[in-house]
Formats: sequence, structure tokens, C-alpha cells
Amino acid sequence: MKYIFLPILFSVIIMSSCQYSQTAEDKKIDFKVDSVMRLMTLDEEIGQMVLYSSDWDVTGPSLKKGYMDEIRKGNCGNIFNAHTAAFTHKLQKIAVEESRLHIPLLFGYDVIHGHKTIFPISLGESASWDMEAIEKSACVSAAEAAASGINWTFAPMCDISVEPRWGRVSEGAGEDPYLGSKIAAARVHGFQGKSLADTLTVLACVKHFAGYGAPLAGRDYNTVDMSERVFLDTYLPPYKAAIDAGAMSVMSSFNELNGIPASGSVYLLKDILRKHLHFKGFVVTDYTSINEMLNHGVVANEAEAGKMAAKAGVDMDMQGEVYYKYLKKQVESGEVPLQAVNEAVHRILKVKFLLGLFDDPYRYCNEAREKREVYSPAHLEASLDVAKKSMVLLKNSNNTLPLKKDEKIAVIGQLATSTRDLLGSWKAAGDWNFMKSVLDELKAYNGDANVTYAEGCKVQGDDRSGFATAISSARGASKIVYVLGESCEWSGEATSRTSINIPGVQTELLEKLKALNKPIVLVLMNGRPLDLSKESELADGILEAWFPGTMGGKAITQVLFGKYNPSGKLTMTFPRNLGQVPIYYYEKNTGRPNYLSNPKYKSRYIDCPNDPLYPFGFGLSYTTFAYSDIKLSGKELAEKGELKASVRVSNTGNVAGEEVVQCYVRDLVGSVTRPVKELKGFEKITLKMGESKVVTFTITPDMLAFHRADMSYGTEPGNYKLFIGTNSRDLKETNFRLN
Ligand code: GLC
Repeated sequence: MKYIFLPILFSVIIMSSCQYSQTAEDKKIDFKVDSVMRLMTLDEEIGQMVLYSSDWDVTGPSLKKGYMDEIRKGNCGNIFNAHTAAFTHKLQKIAVEESRLHIPLLFGYDVIHGHKTIFPISLGESASWDMEAIEKSACVSAAEAAASGINWTFAPMCDISVEPRWGRVSEGAGEDPYLGSKIAAARVHGFQGKSLADTLTVLACVKHFAGYGAPLAGRDYNTVDMSERVFLDTYLPPYKAAIDAGAMSVMSSFNELNGIPASGSVYLLKDILRKHLHFKGFVVTDYTSINEMLNHGVVANEAEAGKMAAKAGVDMDMQGEVYYKYLKKQVESGEVPLQAVNEAVHRILKVKFLLGLFDDPYRYCNEAREKREVYSPAHLEASLDVAKKSMVLLKNSNNTLPLKKDEKIAVIGQLATSTRDLLGSWKAAGDWNFMKSVLDELKAYNGDANVTYAEGCKVQGDDRSGFATAISSARGASKIVYVLGESCEWSGEATSRTSINIPGVQTELLEKLKALNKPIVLVLMNGRPLDLSKESELADGILEAWFPGTMGGKAITQVLFGKYNPSGKLTMTFPRNLGQVPIYYYEKNTGRPNYLSNPKYKSRYIDCPNDPLYPFGFGLSYTTFAYSDIKLSGKELAEKGELKASVRVSNTGNVAGEEVVQCYVRDLVGSVTRPVKELKGFEKITLKMGESKVVTFTITPDMLAFHRADMSYGTEPGNYKLFIGTNSRDLKETNFRLN
């Protein structure tokens, strides 16, 4: 029997839903959720805790027939990997018109750095240090995704990492908690906008909670074990920032943290997430991570895994079918309290109300809007802008760059013609047939006659047969532009490497090209810090372009020819070699720091300097900047006071440029050892040739808080150093005292 009165009931209850302001709405929504839950059977409640993947076969999106039946029966309330307005409409229709309670589906998807219009990989975007640009990227990604039927993205990834062996660093924002927090918040604001009910915004999902970025030996899914202080002071802040920014879902990670898998961790999902961070949204697991607790060895079977997850606070089971198979019996037997299910379902339904799905379940399935939003000129322009801002100029000797128009350039490298690689690893629904390669754009800008091309070699493998042709094609050019690096398939999930060298024989080819005695510019496409020790000796110019997205070819061209002056700064340290890893700027001083006069007995290597090849915050420009000494508003910072630290930054070159002015502090004496410096502020400024600007940072005591020896969180009076400069190494310095 069809319960046709329900839509009428809802329409009465919810007609006024959009009249309430966001704040007042909360209580009203709780009432509506409770009224829906009173109608639900236990099976239907558990169905809301189930998330299944749709498929994408040759003909396009598809869904297993069984899953469609489960939706019809109310046993599956959420789908991911389904998109396009038409396909999601088809599935939503089953849920809304054929199930007993007509509860709309959530549609999730990995819109990490773009949906159809793809932006630079997240690690690349982070190098822009431009929160507006990063928010814009998320906003455009959300608009295209929401127009394509998606209302939930599995982003932002907030995992701090100092592990270049781990391929998923490409999805994050680098090594720093302060910058990572600012970026996490910008991404949530971009995805969720001002209202989740807006048809061009999507629900954000904070992942991977938590500590996933610190796998032992950089091997994906490997053990994560760290002190609570390191977890709370270094790894937790970006997740917190994303939640404080209003993210309404969190994804529990694959890894264990200190012996307990995240999806079964009361410490993570209740003590930290609910009590410490006051998170009000719902928790979804990563893909089958409940089932994987068997492999972790904390449960003997899937039923136990489900019980452990439900009692820890996991609300939704991604693809594991554990809740689907076992939860009802466990609730009926009392092994799992019904309250755990009720709370989970309440949180999930509340988000569906916030998304406006009960108001209009088809609000995200509008094909006309999809046509208007996807690949719109404004979106492509935004992607170009962010791509340019994400690129980092690592070397530019003898002003090899910018290239001059009509200059004869020889382009080398397989990546110069690849559009697939431009999109990076999480390409979502990005279509590389739609776009232009680096070579296409170089020719379009500089003229076919001025641009020759030879592949030279592949990104991987040891085939050198193309070397000779590449060398001869370069003979006639005035400069060589060599596009090299990693394949995009070497970044992202399950792509850990035991080497961070440029793969294959690409560097060997570079050595051969060097013999031609012509200026060589490297354009790097990669998703992690690489060991560029050899390449940095051989090349005259190095532009780190990451995987720059749909407009990456044009962005690289505009930067190479100086139409845009590169302004990016590294957000992960680039080591001299893998032996230095883990290496990051906020290291501790140790008892035998390397600067001691003792030639031997100190913390150093006998075969390599301690410092990295390119430090955190490093990036050059086509112009130069000078910094004045720091001016402090005082030498003492009172407990409830503030200090202003200012520098005058001048553009001393002959073109306009942008500079990321960075501010770090060092706590000289603490109840525990403290980092030699910590980023506490940054400002990206634009200066015309000859122009200068005073940049001021406000330092307040709360910025100096940490988990002290007794694990209480707060500050300690004492002496501090304060640094301001162009990266974490080249800095002006002063000091102050915190009272
Ligand atoms: C993957 C990833 C996660 C992603 C999820 C859904 O395994 O770990 O980042 O969001 O599954 O695709």
C-alpha cells in the first residue's frame, strides 16, 4: 500500500522550511527529523546508514539492479559515484516515488579539485597561498557538481603530511598546520557556500579522520603511531578548522591511530570529534573501512566490526554492507543500543533537510542548469587563474625565464603532449579530450614555426630510442623547454613510492640535452616533492607546475612567457634526497644542533647537508623583493595583549609581482621541546615595479598556545623569536617576551 499522505504531510511541515533563518532553522529541523523518524522502521533507519557506489560502464552511469531494489525497499539511503542530472534524477525518483517513506538520496562524489572543469591538484592549489583563489576553486567545483546532481563531495582532504613517499600528499595542503587550517576552511566555505540548500553548493566532508597523512615509511594505509601531543598540535588543526568552518560530514580513515583503527575509535569519533571539536554532522567511513578492521586484527568477524564501529560513532557505512547485514540483529539483541542508530539517522536526515532535499528532492537534478554551469567560460577562467597562481618558480638563473615571444623553443617530453596528466589523479568527471596540451598552447602562443617538438622518452621505462631525435630537434632552438615529472597515475591513493626521483630515463635525457649548451627550462608535472638535486644542477630554469588542471597548458604557457609572473610558494619541503625524509621546517633543535662548533658530534649526516634543496615557503619571481628590518610595537606581549610586527617589502626588480610574506615564531624555552619555528601568519601582496608596502602581523598570546608537559593546552611566559620573510629559511629576525 502506497503511503501517499506522506508527501502532503511533508509539504505541510516543510513548506515553511525556507522561511527560517539558518539559526532558528536548527530547532525546526530537529522537529521535522523527529517527525520523520517516528514513521521509520528499524530497517528503514539502518537503510539511511548505508552508502553504495554506483558504477560507470561504457554506456555511462549505471547501478547494480540489486542496489536499485535496496533503494526501493528503503535499505539504501545514499549513493556515491553517480552523477549527471539525468542519472541522479532516475535514482532519486526510485527513492522518492517508489519507497515507502520517500526519503531522498544523498549523492556523494570525489570532487577534490574540480568536477568537469578541473583545477590544479590540491597540493598545487595550496602553493598559491591564496585563500580567495582556493575558495573560488571549491566554489566552482561545487557549482558544477551540484548542477550535475551531486550534493556531497568527499573533500576537503585535511591530512597533514611530511611524507613525499605517500602519493596522497597530492590531495592535501602540505606540511603546515596553520596554512593547512586556513586552506581547509577556505575549501569548506567554497564547497558549502552560505547555505547547503543552495542548488550550486554541496555538503563538504572532512577527511581522512584522522592522521592518515603519517603512514609509517610513507606506505599508504600503513600504521600511524604518534604522540598525542603531535596529533593534537600538528595533525588535528586542519580537521578542526574545517569543522569550525561548518563542514557537516567527516570521513573516518583507513588507518589505525595508536593501535585503534579510526572507524572503531571512540577516542577519535567521540572524545575528539564530538566532545573536543563539537562536531554536529555525521560520520561516514572510508571505503569498506569497517570490514578492514578484521585485517587490522581488532575484531574477529564483520559483525563484531559493525558493532565496534556503531558503538564508536560511525553513522554511515561506505560500501561495506556491514550495517546492512548485521546491525538490525545487534540492535534487537541489545548488543548495539538503539540510541546509537537513532542518533546516526538523526544526523544524516538533518543534513538531508539542510540540503533542501525534503523540500525538493530533485533540486540538484536540473539538466538546463547542468548545461549552463559545466565548462562555463567563467569556470574555465577561474581554473586558469588558480593554475597560474599555483605554480612555483624554483630556479631561474641568467634570467632564462620569461621566454621571449617568437623565440625558437624546442619542446621535449611526453608530458608536453599529454592532456590526461594535466588533470592529476582525482580527475573526477574531468574530460581530457576536452582540453589542450602544453605543446598545443605553446604553439598557439608562440607560433608553430617557433616551436619544435620531440618526445625524447616516456615518463616511465628505459627506452632511450627517442633521445637522438630529441637532441637533434633541440639543436636549432635558442632554448629548450623540457616537460617532465611523474605520470598522474603515480599520485593519489595507493601510489606510494620508495624513490622520489624523477622516474625512468627522463633525467638521463636532460644530461644529454645539457651537452648542447643551450638554456634549458624544466616544467615539472608531479604530485609530490621530488628529489631534484641533479636536475637543479643541470637546468637553468625550473617551474613546478604540479598537475595544473583543464587549463594547465595555457597556464604554463602564460607563466613561461611572462604573461603572469609566478607567485607560488612550496607548502611541502623538497628534500635533497629521500634519506633526509621526514624533513620539515618545524623541526626541533635537538641537544646537538648542527650549528655547534664541534665538527663531528652533532645532529647531522656525514654525506649530505641537513637543509633541504627547497625549503617550505620557497618560490621565486621574475622580479625581486627586499625586506626591511622588523619593527615591533613593543618587546613585551601581555597576557591579554597584542604585538604588531611590521616590515616594509619593496619590489626591487623591473616587473610587477606578488610576494607571500610569511611570519614565524619560535618559543625559546618551553615545558616541552618546541619547534625551531612555526608559521603564524602570511599575507600575499602585489607590488608594481619600484613599489613598496608595509606588511603588519598581529601577534596575540592565543597564537602561541600548545599542549604543555602536562598535556594542558595554553601558553607559557618566556622569550620568543619572531621571523618575517620570503620563505622559512630567508628571514628577518627579532624577539619579544610573552608575560
Ligand atoms: C577512497 C578514498 C577516499 C574517497 C573514497 C570514496 O578509498 O580513500 O578519499 O573519498 O574512497 O571514493
